[in-house]
Amino acid sequence: MHKVIAIYPGSFDPPTNGHLDLIERGSKIFDELVVAILRNPEKDPLFSVSERLAMLEALTGHYSNVRVDTFDGLTVDYAVKVGASSVLRGIRALSDYEYELQMALMNRKLRPELETVFMMPAEKYSYLSSRLVREVAQLGGSIKGLVPELVEQNVKGKLDPAYKLAEFAVSEAKSESRKSKARKKS
Ligand code: PNS
Repeated sequence: MHKVIAIYPGSFDPPTNGHLDLIERGSKIFDELVVAILRNPEKDPLFSVSERLAMLEALTGHYSNVRVDTFDGLTVDYAVKVGASSVLRGIRALSDYEYELQMALMNRKLRPELETVFMMPAEKYSYLSSRLVREVAQLGGSIKGLVPELVEQNVKGKLDPAYKLAEFAVSEAKSESRKSKARKKS
């Protein structure tokens, strides 16, 4: 039987409950759903692509028909590569529509056989975006209930000054030990 494969492309920096809601919905209507993280030229991401991949894999591991991958280049080319016939995108509010329509029509121009399917996340997530989650967390607000617990912990780890200090201390210690080795050699 012909399997209907869809890709769900995005930045997922970080994955939110809105993304997870859409993945759940997508997993119900497609035979296979590939969550595709753009290895994008974003200058200063909060999470590296491999961190996002690890989080999404942990969060979607219970779906037998969902897998997570990364891609670069055109979304349509990636869709062809994995044999997908659909691109899944979420639309939250009217404000998303213009950008999403533009993208869907450009993708259609590039690959007419590829269909974009829009789904709406639960309305409780209709104001949610990765950008806002990053901003709220960076300014000290709570992101509880907006992202899965695992993501919340990882965001805290990234932003907590003590954590940063610990990281700094480790790199300082490494550099000090390098310097002392060099001193001993000379
Ligand atoms: O979650 P995002 O950041 O809104 O996702 C945007 C994404 C990754 C779907 C879009 O930027 C994209 O498709 N980029 C890949 C390059 C591409 O195909 N560009 C032309 C799209 S019309």
